Amino acid sequence: MSAFQSPYKALVIGASGAIGAAFMEQLQHDPLCQTAIAVARSAIHPNIISMHLDDEHSIQNAALAVKEQGPFDLILVATGVLHGVGFMPEKRLADIDMKVLQETFTANTFGPALLLKHFVPLISARGVMALISAKVGSIEDNRLGGWYSYRASKAALNMLIKTASIELRRQKPEAMVVAIHPGTVISNLSQPFAGGANARPANVAAKEMLATIQSLEAKGSGQFFAYDGQLLPW
Ligand SMILES: NC(=O)c1ccc[n+]([C@@H]2O[C@H](COP(=O)([O-])OP(=O)(O)OC[C@H]3O[C@@H](n4cnc5c(N)ncnc54)[C@H](OP(=O)(O)O)[C@@H]3O)[C@@H](O)[C@H]2O)c1
Repeated sequence: MSAFQSPYKALVIGASGAIGAAFMEQLQHDPLCQTAIAVARSAIHPNIISMHLDDEHSIQNAALAVKEQGPFDLILVATGVLHGVGFMPEKRLADIDMKVLQETFTANTFGPALLLKHFVPLISARGVMALISAKVGSIEDNRLGGWYSYRASKAALNMLIKTASIELRRQKPEAMVVAIHPGTVISNLSQPFAGGANARPANVAAKEMLATIQSLEAKGSGQFFAYDGQLLPW
């Protein structure tokens, strides 16, 4: 089943990750999807456009490389980090570390800010740019604490999305920028934590998110949605 009602062009940034690859697979099997372009850090295949979140030139070059094939009806951003080489999310204030903060914010906030800068202009008049955030980035919903860098980087990402949506509305009133929470999904990112039974396969999450994105109306721009369409508090 198609996520869209008419032929459309799509771009997946972070196509090497579990969720990004699942998005690509669904799009490639959708007869209504005319173009599905993959952007990823490691361009292991000639059809994949290379992009590093810590390098604005690479982000700008990726946008220039795909511009001629646009405008895009759907731009999905599925990049992000929760843990990395030598670090795990903080359990307490005493664990906070400058390098970890910088690495997490570079991947989850600063890089996506530059993605918004270079890719929002490529959205079609009624297109959607959906960036994967995380429910743990909701300030209102934070009951458990911990995960300082990740929570704060996603909360800041949410503010960037909201702010970009206000600017976009003035230029393309029918186009949208939204934050989306994928639920708990089996991936490298969630592997050390993913509460076993609650984690879903990425293809299930991707299908649910595409259905939710397809059902959005312009007034949904600048909002934070869960994979099942539920509106989440900031
Ligand atoms: N999995 C979950 O349960 C869950 C829950 C809530 C939110 N999320 C969010 O969902 C999104 C996708 O996560 P996932 O579960 O699919 O994780 P994943 O499989 O680890 O994928 C992460 C993606 O981000 C890319 N990436 C990380 N740092 C990068 C950098 N500096 N430059 C370019 N690309 C970079 C990775 O590229 P490489 O392949 O090159 O490393 C990969 O494509 C993230 O934003 C995450 O916060 C996931």
